[in-house]
Amino acid sequence: AALTQDDLKRIAAYKAVEYVRSGMVVGLGTGSTARHAVDRIAELLRRGELSGIVGVPTSTQTHEQALALGIPLSDLDSHPSLDLAIDGADEVDPHLNLVKGRGGSLLREKMVEGACKKFVVIVDESKLVKYLGGSGLAVPVEIVPFCWKFTADRLRQLFEDAGCTAKLRTFPGTENPFVTDNGNYIVDLYFQKDIGDLKAASDAILRLAGVVEHGMFLDMATTVIVAGKLGVEVLNK
Ligand code: A5P
Repeated sequence: AALTQDDLKRIAAYKAVEYVRSGMVVGLGTGSTARHAVDRIAELLRRGELSGIVGVPTSTQTHEQALALGIPLSDLDSHPSLDLAIDGADEVDPHLNLVKGRGGSLLREKMVEGACKKFVVIVDESKLVKYLGGSGLAVPVEIVPFCWKFTADRLRQLFEDAGCTAKLRTFPGTENPFVTDNGNYIVDLYFQKDIGDLKAASDAILRLAGVVEHGMFLDMATTVIVAGKLGVEVLNK
């Protein structure tokens, strides 16, 4: 039978778990791809093929999954430096810059993955783009709820030249704002054109009071594992 997209996600995830060694402190990503990596780590622990792993989850969702699977867990306060993190992404550009956060957990992901010696990203081939924002999907920005319309409009104005629209994320099928693990809102930025200098865009977004963090992960991934119909490709920084 032909491989489904979920099969490709699992293949990438299992490949990434080959980087995990006994005794490592490992950042556990969030989403439908990372979920397979967490399952796999638990399986290898159960079989005795891995031991002494400490997981640092990047969301309450992953925390619950890992807890249920019996993976020993900790946090950045106790483990400020991690050996490795494994997580999915929404977009990967040719320089291995990422967009993340369509699942809503970008802040904790950025904190944990920014504290790792090695950050292995796992994607199926549909996530590869020529430039970030290029898939017509959003670049998410986590903002404080206070006067969110004001902040959303400031964000839109920053990228007026790129034809930006800013949309408050809601819980699917409702008008209610989506609330992150940290009690914040998310504004999704859509671009009609390439936003150009990503570092400048990142700095401009982060300078706005009211912004907590954004979903562009620039120069963070050390390895990207891409699973495609024709096989697995490992891209290294
Ligand atoms: C969670 O907020 C995200 O950053 C995910 O890592 C990203 O959205 C990828 O998710 P999927 O693996 O479900 O596509």
